[in-house]
Amino acid sequence: MPTLFDPVEMGALKLPNRILMAPLTRGRADKAAVPTAIMADYYAQRSAAGLIISEATGISREGLGWPYAPGLWSEAQVEGWKPVVAAVHAAGGRIVAQLWHMGRLVPESVSGMQPVSASATRAPNKLHTYDGKQDPTEARAVTVDDIARILADYAAAARNAIAAGFDGVQIHGANGYLVDQFLRDGTNLRTDDYGGPIANRLRFMRDVVQAVAGEVGIERTGIRLSPIGDSQGANDSDNATLFTAAAAALEALGVPWIELREPGPHSTFRASEEAAVSPAMRGVYSGKIILNSDYVGASAQDKLAEGVADAISFGRPFIANPDLVERIRRDAPLDQAEVATFYSRGPEGYTDYRTRPEQEAA
Ligand SMILES: Cc1cc2nc3c(=O)[nH]c(=O)nc-3n(C[C@H](O)[C@H](O)[C@H](O)COP(=O)(O)O)c2cc1C
Repeated sequence: MPTLFDPVEMGALKLPNRILMAPLTRGRADKAAVPTAIMADYYAQRSAAGLIISEATGISREGLGWPYAPGLWSEAQVEGWKPVVAAVHAAGGRIVAQLWHMGRLVPESVSGMQPVSASATRAPNKLHTYDGKQDPTEARAVTVDDIARILADYAAAARNAIAAGFDGVQIHGANGYLVDQFLRDGTNLRTDDYGGPIANRLRFMRDVVQAVAGEVGIERTGIRLSPIGDSQGANDSDNATLFTAAAAALEALGVPWIELREPGPHSTFRASEEAAVSPAMRGVYSGKIILNSDYVGASAQDKLAEGVADAISFGRPFIANPDLVERIRRDAPLDQAEVATFYSRGPEGYTDYRTRPEQEAA
């Protein structure tokens, strides 16, 4: 059985260990969604991760609704990412860009336009905006022409990611955003080729994979899914069947890795009583599976031993412990992430978490 410290290959990516940094929105870009200099420090501090999956990054103005989150559709954004990616590489790390279209979860006041989704639905919860929390606008159902345009946006963003120096991309298919809105029958009410039976609801995800892979190569294309747990109102009547079929579709496309957010019943981030779908997905998928949510060193190692996961991604532990890989190796205590500064501006709670000196090891 592999340990967390064994190398692993995922398509074109050669990772020196299996302790990965999960994607984490931190809101430190500027209002034009251009990365700022402090982001280079933050990511470089965490470059010992086997792989850094970047914070969710908008593929278009239409698709990005999180205040001060970065994008990858403009020249200025590409230029802004270059020093961030270069800093990670200079520190010996690897980083892929998480490509994001938020669909109906985009607040109209942030994008300046009515949000789009698979169907005309409204997100259930208030949304973060530059002016506090606001009620969502009902989304407009995308036309087939819109879908072609959005696929072109994914392709352009993937191309831009490579131009900025990223080692690959991860399609954000999780947490109730646009890809997920197409996957689930609670938000996809379409009666055309993109809706109805599971094979049709998988079509948009497949199209996005092909659009992205057409630019960067399938060997640099991964995806994140969240088969169980809260997904911001995007629900399905049968997650187990849907996501097992999704894994089979990703197998057929040759996608080299899938990251899964599968919170357990005691999770401190959107807990779920539902049974994990990952074992069934493992049965139909031969690529690498990365599991996420609530892992610490020992539980991550135990999970690898079960044979479903090839690697583990850590979110909040990587916020508070830039030297997480070293701490797990030395079994040193972990610091706790400060919720109040998750999305605040500036270095506090961002680049000022300490690394733990050797002599403090347990
Ligand atoms: C501050 C914060 C920001 C997050 N941003 C993203 C994101 O941009 N993309 C994403 O897929 N998940 C995002 N998540 C979910 C995390 O990737 C991860 O699934 C979650 O933190 C649970 O893992 P953990 O227990 O290791 O923290 C975010 C979570 C937190 C706490």
